[in-house]
Amino acid sequence: MTHHIHRPKIALVGSGQIGGNLALLLGQKQLGDIFLLDIPDLEGIAKGKALDIAQMTPIQDFDVKLAGTSRWEDVRGADVVVITAGRPRKPGMSRDELLDVNVKIMKDVAANVKTYCPDAFTVVISNPLDAMVYAFYKITGFGHHQVVGMAGVLDSGRFRYFVAEKLGVSVEDVNAFVLGGHGDDMVPIVPYCSVGGIPLAQLMKQEEIDQIVDRTRKAGGEIVALYKTGSAYYSPAAAAVQMVESYLRDKKRVLPAAAWLQGEYGLKEMFVGVPVIIGAHGIERVLQVELSAADQEALKKSAARVKELCGEVDKRLA
Ligand code: APR
Repeated sequence: MTHHIHRPKIALVGSGQIGGNLALLLGQKQLGDIFLLDIPDLEGIAKGKALDIAQMTPIQDFDVKLAGTSRWEDVRGADVVVITAGRPRKPGMSRDELLDVNVKIMKDVAANVKTYCPDAFTVVISNPLDAMVYAFYKITGFGHHQVVGMAGVLDSGRFRYFVAEKLGVSVEDVNAFVLGGHGDDMVPIVPYCSVGGIPLAQLMKQEEIDQIVDRTRKAGGEIVALYKTGSAYYSPAAAAVQMVESYLRDKKRVLPAAAWLQGEYGLKEMFVGVPVIIGAHGIERVLQVELSAADQEALKKSAARVKELCGEVDKRLA
């Protein structure tokens, strides 16, 4: 008998709305055994969600183990860590306004991930996204292939949905890329949006495209305004699952994500949404694509805002 067969271990830090949906979706895809972690006061939520989903495994035929905990020891050696620890937005709040409280949380979380899961591929979801993934990277000192922020897959998913809805076509046939920071100045790259391979501009009037770009930028806020008690959770969870799957199954998917930049797109020493390849080595490559002058300018502007927030993070980590 061989004894080297390894079931991937996935640690979900934060067992709130996104954490619970991550457990469900990762479980249904049988990507690994799942550990929901939360603070001691909410250990019951972590354990309850794990047990609830475990009890659906025989019904839906997915063979994974699920557990809830507040002890980092239990997630020791995780292969993948997904971080949603932090406060979500409330109506009228920007993602940036979460910085103070969420950096404090990230200090605790990142130190623990560093100690207990030093080899994990880590996906950060907590907002303000680009600043939180930066804080995580700075605190852990992890390799840049190992750390990524989830935003672009979600923002592109929103864009794709709006286009498909408007044109009355399958969402499967709509391709899109949204780059830049995960804020209202994100940059949907319209020339690379296509429907069944046909450039979007051939199928839609500029005015309609502009409306979709605008709605995409504000899509997170649209949901916050509806929920009133928090922010989106199904779609962010699904977006992170796509990234985790590409890593664990070495799919090498081309996805927009917040990656550490070292001069690509003229940007340096920050995480900003760009097209990357995710495979068994983590962030295997940052793809540099040609951008129009207007898109370049918009990306620069979005990145400048991210840089400012990283400065705020640096002050809080000093
Ligand atoms: N360690 C572990 N878990 C923590 C910690 C910590 N130090 N601090 C907070 N948490 C947990 C909270 O107890 C809560 O259960 O993180 C969870 C966050 O869950 P929700 O409040 O339901 O928020 P959610 O909707 O999942 O969003 C989480 O992702 O999209 C972003 O803006 C959003 O920053 C927010 C994050």
